Amino acid sequence: MNPTESPRLTVIGTGYLGATHAICMAVLGFDVLGVDVDRRKVERLASGEVPFFEPGLPELLSKALESGRLRFTTSFEEAGEFGDVHFLCVGTPQQPGSDAADLTYVDAAVRALAPTLTRRALVVGKSTVPVGTARNLTDLIHELAPAGEEVELAWNPEFLREGFAVDDTMRPDRLVFGVESDWAEERLRAAFKPILEQQGTPVVRTDLATAELVKVAANSFLATKISYINAMAEVCEAVGADIKHLADSLALDDRIGGKFLKPGLGFGGGCLPKDIRAFAHRAEELGVGQAVSFLREVDDINRRRRARTVDLVREMLGGISGKRIAAWGAAFKPNSDDIRDAPALDVARTMHGLGGHVRVFDPAALDNARRAFPELRYGDSALDVAQDADVVVLLTEWSDFKEIEPDALAQVVRHKRIVDGRHALDAAKWRSAGWEYRALGRS
Ligand code: UDX
Repeated sequence: MNPTESPRLTVIGTGYLGATHAICMAVLGFDVLGVDVDRRKVERLASGEVPFFEPGLPELLSKALESGRLRFTTSFEEAGEFGDVHFLCVGTPQQPGSDAADLTYVDAAVRALAPTLTRRALVVGKSTVPVGTARNLTDLIHELAPAGEEVELAWNPEFLREGFAVDDTMRPDRLVFGVESDWAEERLRAAFKPILEQQGTPVVRTDLATAELVKVAANSFLATKISYINAMAEVCEAVGADIKHLADSLALDDRIGGKFLKPGLGFGGGCLPKDIRAFAHRAEELGVGQAVSFLREVDDINRRRRARTVDLVREMLGGISGKRIAAWGAAFKPNSDDIRDAPALDVARTMHGLGGHVRVFDPAALDNARRAFPELRYGDSALDVAQDADVVVLLTEWSDFKEIEPDALAQVVRHKRIVDGRHALDAAKWRSAGWEYRALGRS
């Protein structure tokens, strides 16, 4: 095809990343085919239903379907026939019993797609993978594709955050193109033309290995920043200093900045924890484990936050067994229904295991939490789970929780005790309303 023509896109894998990418690309004017092996998921998306919680995405899915530019299929033959540029967006979870990334889905997607590629095409990896994966996949594609070396592989990491997925996709800070030829760069520029033209988004052209590394390096940096401030919180606890004031002071230094410097219960979710572990593991395989051994410490500091939050509740109550505990939050962060590696549920489950009568409420993640942890008890609202509570523990900083007035909560609890696991509440306000307020790293 003519390099200036708009390429037809396929998006392989319609989970969080893929569904968002497919929908946004269709809204931007491309003809897009979303591909997934999960027939149920394909049917739901084709009927206009987004299978996960993401603000703004259902409206864009309707718009894209109405335009006729977005379709979904389970057929890789159809994908190979249709697409000029194929985006790989399948998941790379942590392997059970290991820190390494599980590449089963990436491998399966390439093995299913490559044999259908009979003409010149670009395959673009977006999944987060261990460095070196793209090199191996290039060999696999050349071996399996009837078009052989006419098919190229590029790497274009994705940095979207849950809760802001649409905005991060439509208005990215930067685009990283890991390519092996000018043709591949041209194809990628054509596939991102509306974004590049309308916003002048910076593009970094690089090699495949660097593009793979950018993603894990970015997530490792963010995780390190969070664990850094949480490590400072541990020191504050030892000397009775105040982590909130310390973090606020650091944030005012332009060179440091306040983003990802919020102390508390630490990070969870489907990316940061598994990405830092997979990176450390891969670096060890490459013989440069020492260079990123600090990531093990970052992980340990993060895990300690969860244990310390339970300790704080125990200290406050003089023991957890038999106590009535309201757990506010289940999702790994607000504005999400994702409970993967969620610090909130870890804390709730530990307190339950210690004999606490824990009741959990979350505005969006209750169904997922119930399915994953049926042993926990759940309630209908923040005030419902706080009924007769000995302590309320805020674990995910939803605005619904932050807006609750101390006096309203005082009407339902047995004891006016609150643990603010996310430094989300105004300590002075709660204390002046007669509450015993505690937060990690604050005296
Ligand atoms: C992250 C990256 O931000 C994104 O670029 C990448 O593509 C995927 O991984 P996400 O997992 O959606 O995105 O969540 P993010 O908003 O980064 O938050 C991660 C975790 O860090 C959450 O559990 C959050 O509560 C925690 N966090 C964040 C803190 O504990 N303190 C902070 O200051 C910021």
